[in-house]
Amino acid sequence: LRHFLAIDGLDRTLLTDILDRAEGFLSLARAPVKKVPLCRGKIIANLFFENSTRTRTTFELAAKRLSADVLNLNISTSATAKGETLLDTLRNLEAMHVDMFVVRHSDSGAAHFIARHAAPHVSVINAGDGCHAHPTQSMLDMFTIRRHKGEIAGLKVAIVGDILHSRVARSQISALNTLGAAEVRVIAPRTLIPACAPEALGVRVFHDLREGVADCDVIIMLRLQRERMTGGFLPSEHEYFFLFGLTEKRLASAKPDAIVMHPGPINRGVEMDSEVADGPRSVILEQVSNGLAVRMAIMSTCIGAHHAAGQGTEREVA
Ligand code: CP
Repeated sequence: LRHFLAIDGLDRTLLTDILDRAEGFLSLARAPVKKVPLCRGKIIANLFFENSTRTRTTFELAAKRLSADVLNLNISTSATAKGETLLDTLRNLEAMHVDMFVVRHSDSGAAHFIARHAAPHVSVINAGDGCHAHPTQSMLDMFTIRRHKGEIAGLKVAIVGDILHSRVARSQISALNTLGAAEVRVIAPRTLIPACAPEALGVRVFHDLREGVADCDVIIMLRLQRERMTGGFLPSEHEYFFLFGLTEKRLASAKPDAIVMHPGPINRGVEMDSEVADGPRSVILEQVSNGLAVRMAIMSTCIGAHHAAGQGTEREVA
């Protein structure tokens, strides 16, 4: 595995190996010496062309825990603001012997584009591209679910909200189906679900929240991605919360031990009540903590396997 660009195309064994590897890194957070030398001497560049709080900081921390040197390119003050092309920026960073690019971009396919043009010694990790994929987020979500439920296989999972514009939902659906979830449900207004057939998505579709969460083990809430809504349906926040906002009352039809998740950032009072977000079933902050261990696992897998194999001869995922 050289690049980590999407969940699609990855098999259950590989996903499980990454989750198992992350278990090992989780205990490191509590250890007196928190660093391991797995990426010592490597240079990892964070290229965030779009805003981020959780993903960027946990990637930085994860790289430091792996003993890598980290470059955080500030796009707004970099030469891209003077008209330098993305490829020229990459070539310049490669000239500094960067070993890995962690890329977030508002355009779907941006990480794949960079991976196609990267020098043979460079690995690329997708930290979220447009509406397409956010594979490391879905892996930390699977990790969090597995820690609470033992395994993904057999679970009923509901994903609620703006499925149409959500790269997180796409990657979660793919990971859940690969890892053997019994049923993946999406719950949303008709205007916020992709037009393709549910079977093509690998989900069951619901338009009623209470009905959709009934008997579920895991409820994943999503934000309305207004920055990607370029026309068409723009629900009012009040109306959306009235129909699709998660409250304690609506959660009552889920299993009694159901957990509530959200990739963040949360819009309180829009997709969920604060009472639920901060309540006993919420594992939202745990997701953030787990992101560190999971990103360590993914980065060390890509850098370790790729370099041990002699740069580029290992399996690639694109
Ligand atoms: N979940 C997520 O990607 O959050 P950030 O946008 O803060 O990175």
